[in-house]
Amino acid sequence: MTATAILSLVKKYIVEHFSNETTGHDYFHIERVVKMAKWIAEGEPCDLFTVELAAWLHDVGDHKLNNGTDRSATLIRSLLIPTDMQASAIENVIEIVSQISFSKGKTAQSIEAKIVQDADRLDAIGAIGIARVFAFGGSQHQPIYDPDGAPSSIQHFYDKLLKLKALMHTKRGRQIAAARHQYLETFLNRFHSEWNSELITQP
Ligand code: ADP
Ligand code: NI
Repeated sequence: MTATAILSLVKKYIVEHFSNETTGHDYFHIERVVKMAKWIAEGEPCDLFTVELAAWLHDVGDHKLNNGTDRSATLIRSLLIPTDMQASAIENVIEIVSQISFSKGKTAQSIEAKIVQDADRLDAIGAIGIARVFAFGGSQHQPIYDPDGAPSSIQHFYDKLLKLKALMHTKRGRQIAAARHQYLETFLNRFHSEWNSELITQP
């Protein structure tokens, strides 16, 4: 199969399997990560086909969506083997996908893995990132905030989201992360002010 045909087959699979997801890994998240990864890739020496393929597949088989077990390798093989892609290229995509997730604690090694990881992390910050934290938190019945420090969605900003800017691998990733990080800081300041019932009359 041609690269274009493989990408449209994979996209079709993702549309079918991620359309009803409501914990923040929905189809539109994947689509945004693909777009962002392609844009970052234009600024880096890399294999664009591998970046795009890994971006489409980066949340396939995610352990949080499959009762705690990671099925990504199995799913990716069953999807790509019928396309006649070389086995080594398929294994490369599987390796990239396994390196992307923050929670798995692996490090992105190749430039392609770094690009997709930057794109995925950018979707966790900025306005969309804020929406996703509370969507995910709500799905886990987690409180918005607990001033005594119990797990909460606001706590997740400090535990993870505010650290992402410093972890960007690419030049374009760093540029977007800087702006989105600033937006998180503004949001948090405002959140705490309102929490403390400060009477703000400025926008
Ligand atoms: P990854 O895809 O790297 O594994 P996660 O699955 O951890 O990332 O995160 C997916 C989305 O869910 C992100 O927007 C993240 O901010 C949000 N999220 C993850 N853990 C929490 C949490 N404990 N509280 C609130 N939001 C969370
Ligand atoms: Ni993702």
